[in-house]
Amino acid sequence: MIFNKSQSKFCNFAASKQSHRMALDIRIDRTKNSRIDSIDFDNLSFGKVFSDHMLVCEYKNGAWQNPTIQPYGPMSLNPAAKIFHYGQSIFEGMKAYKDSDGNVLLFRPDENWQRLNKSASRLMMPEIPEEIFMEGLETLLKLDSDWIPTADGSSLYIRPFMFASGEGFHASPADEYTLVIATAPSGAYFSGKVKVSIEEKYARAANGGVGFAKAGGNYAAQFYPTQLAIEKGYQQVIWTDDNTHQFIEEAGAMNVFIRINDTLLTSPTSDRILDGVTRKSIIQIAEDNGIPVEVRKISVGEVVEAAKTGALKEIFGAGTAAVISPIAGFGYQGTDYDLPELETSYASKLKKTITDIQTNKSEDPYGWRVNVS
Ligand SMILES: Cc1ncc(COP(=O)(O)O)c(C=O)c1O
Repeated sequence: MIFNKSQSKFCNFAASKQSHRMALDIRIDRTKNSRIDSIDFDNLSFGKVFSDHMLVCEYKNGAWQNPTIQPYGPMSLNPAAKIFHYGQSIFEGMKAYKDSDGNVLLFRPDENWQRLNKSASRLMMPEIPEEIFMEGLETLLKLDSDWIPTADGSSLYIRPFMFASGEGFHASPADEYTLVIATAPSGAYFSGKVKVSIEEKYARAANGGVGFAKAGGNYAAQFYPTQLAIEKGYQQVIWTDDNTHQFIEEAGAMNVFIRINDTLLTSPTSDRILDGVTRKSIIQIAEDNGIPVEVRKISVGEVVEAAKTGALKEIFGAGTAAVISPIAGFGYQGTDYDLPELETSYASKLKKTITDIQTNKSEDPYGWRVNVS
């Protein structure tokens, strides 16, 4: 089955939910040398070891080809592949969990599929039909389900990505692309006590740019200012708007939440801010649990002022990898501000609620959990 570009353009989620998905013809080339026995599942770090198989699907001659699932391993590319020159490269991050009955669970995977396609459109790359993304992923997870760790906090991290594999030195979009889905059994993401620096000079994104997309280059551009912050004794950067550096936007590669007194604040999504799945889930859960939430511009000035008066209770990052990552303090204009250590924080309550839903330890009133076993 071949999907051409115009077909995939019409493949929006609302429409595809109503129709039955087409059955895909996925070729499976199983590994003859599983590495699973060499993995220490009790000591997994994050995203460092990779499961036996990966899904690969090529786009050429204006159409998506049949996907294949093949042993995880190196891929061969021509040096003129446009990914190397013009950075057409996008990705997603998601997780699969296994519950105590052995069910394999995803969390809002449609959101990742839709966001990958938003990123694709912005970078002049072909959109990916739902069939390829969802059925491809489900087939891969069934094949490698023994790789899903079950210890508390662990998961199978899923990395779908697409890059320009078409060749040429001309600065124009490639004519061929490769979609890959690879997975990595990962342990709980512990970052320890995180101190962040509020950025006064660099920006991760600008109006009209690609900040809302998960484009590889966004992350490359973050590394240098983050390294400068590390050299000053911080672990991460709080990104501010590129124009005035007066408004808080994101925390590292996470969305940011700030609690002032009992109100939870988060910045509105925009051209510059990634529309995080964790962020939107937290907003919903917080509101449903009676926590006042304000989605609005947050000025650095009000956060500093709140830190001085004691009204600032919590800052935390939100994203798939860590789910919620509490921040212990921040630096701004040469002054460090510490956050209080709370017995019952919003961060820990919200993290428990969301991870209990993800791992089937609680009811899922929202229908976010998807069983793919
Ligand atoms: C820049 C950025 N912001 C926010 C997020 C959080 O998004 P999500 O909750 O969908 O993982 C991510 C991670 O995907 C990210 O890379």
